[in-house]
Amino acid sequence: MKISFLLDGKITEIDFNKSNYTPTTTVLEYLRSISTKTGVKEGCAEGDCGACTITVAELQPPTSNLQPPTSLTYRALNSCLLFLPSINGKQLITVENLGTSKDLHVIQQAMVDTDASQCGFCTPGFVMSIFAQYKANSKSSEEQIVDALTGNLCRCTGYRPIMDAARISFKADYKDEFSEKETETIQLLQEINKNNDILKIETDEQKYFIPKTLTQLFELKKKLPNANIVSGSTDTALRVTIGKEIIKEIIDLSQTFELKEFTETETEFKIGSGVVLEDIRNAVETKLPALYKMLSVFGAKQIRNKATLGGNIGTASPIGDISMTLFAYKTKLVLANSKSERTIDLDKFITGYRKTELNQDEIIKTIIIPKPSKNEIINAYKISKRSHLDISTVSASFNLEKDSKGIVDKLIIVYGGMSAMTQHATKTEEFLIDKKWTEENILEAQKILETEFTPLSDARSSAQARVIMCKNLLMKFYNESC
Ligand SMILES: Cc1cc2nc3c(=O)[nH]c(=O)nc-3n(C[C@H](O)[C@H](O)[C@H](O)COP(=O)(O)OP(=O)(O)OC[C@H]3O[C@@H](n4cnc5c(N)ncnc54)[C@H](O)[C@@H]3O)c2cc1C
Ligand code: FES
Ligand code: FES
Repeated sequence: MKISFLLDGKITEIDFNKSNYTPTTTVLEYLRSISTKTGVKEGCAEGDCGACTITVAELQPPTSNLQPPTSLTYRALNSCLLFLPSINGKQLITVENLGTSKDLHVIQQAMVDTDASQCGFCTPGFVMSIFAQYKANSKSSEEQIVDALTGNLCRCTGYRPIMDAARISFKADYKDEFSEKETETIQLLQEINKNNDILKIETDEQKYFIPKTLTQLFELKKKLPNANIVSGSTDTALRVTIGKEIIKEIIDLSQTFELKEFTETETEFKIGSGVVLEDIRNAVETKLPALYKMLSVFGAKQIRNKATLGGNIGTASPIGDISMTLFAYKTKLVLANSKSERTIDLDKFITGYRKTELNQDEIIKTIIIPKPSKNEIINAYKISKRSHLDISTVSASFNLEKDSKGIVDKLIIVYGGMSAMTQHATKTEEFLIDKKWTEENILEAQKILETEFTPLSDARSSAQARVIMCKNLLMKFYNESC
């Protein structure tokens, strides 16, 4: 019934038997209940503004069955999307922990020096995003600094002075208290992580379990077949923070070691369903460029630091950007239950609006992405109202193979946002196969494409505009493929 984590440099415990917190109390709500933790703010409670950003440090590698952890990773996270049990075994760092009683941290001082704050509501969130990036890579490039701040909004100061503060911080040669105390922190975290039992929190209204191994997970699934599976919880948390739902039973996979494995072989990537999107992004930059491009416009860093690949596929959302992109990479999924595993093509896995082939006793265990051959031209696109922290209005992914005469041999055309599920444009694919890859044929194909989908009109776009976007994306792919 207890979770343990580091806060203010000390091991802190929450006993759910003796407190008013529930298993789905968010870390933001918890921090705001402590009188000294006023830095962290609630702006939106849905991951969109960054005012609640904190930094979480955890042992690296976290999947430490085989290898003892040797260092810490620091990540910026939206505390409004974190359920309290998910910080078990980690270090929680808030803006109050930066600097010393005498001096501000170099980042805070730079914010003061550049007048980077007016009302101040967004300021702690910005500081914590810059801090996490600084700890992850104190030599970050301009591009990496901008990327680290895409999840933080400011409505009054403007971004120039904030960026100036970040630039100054990254130029400073500064060893902060966290670096000085790293060995001590690692020892404390090892101490609270040595127990490999299932974490069980059962209150009158809710049950929340964190299995550490697949065996524990499947035992739980047998006992609680209807429990909600969460991995990064970025999707599920909104049911609580916005929907005000009391989720009765949760099995949280975020600390299940076997789901965090990432392997690259000569022919494929095997990615555990629990690997977070930011880690995948860092690993595939040069090897799977279309996937890297889509991961770079996925949410913002705080979201990618928590959201998992299994979670993006598991939602079966018609605007799930990464599952849509993976159609073009001919991705396969390994589904597992307590007794066996089966492999299924990703495009057979999604069967309808938020419906999948998953049986009640199964989970998505591994995602297999074959390495594309030299002949395959793969690209993916996302159209949204802004480039970051926005969901797709229409998205598309393509995989083209031509023969030496320029005739289309194989072609995958997939759209998100055009129907109730991510879907192939089957008739357009069929039309273009065995034809020359020319602008003339693409113009003809667009006429077929026009009839393939009957999209909805909603707040993001009219149906008519969606059809135009869908056709234009095919032409864009054609132009770029040439
Ligand atoms: C601010 C914000 C921005 C976002 N931006 C984007 C975006 O740009 N593009 C986009 O596509 N999405 C976006 N999302 C949606 C969401 O973050 C993603 O879909 C994310 O990948 C979900 O992963 P998760 O691990 O957090 O899922 P969770 O919330 O943990 O789970 C989501 C679903 O998947 C199921 N699931 C999780 N893991 C497994 C598993 N191993 N086996 C079986 N089922 C499983 C769960 O049961 C649940 O139904 C955004 C969300 C927020 C809050
Ligand atoms: S409160 Fe807006 S991102 Fe958390
Ligand atoms: S300083 Fe007011 S919102 Fe940023």
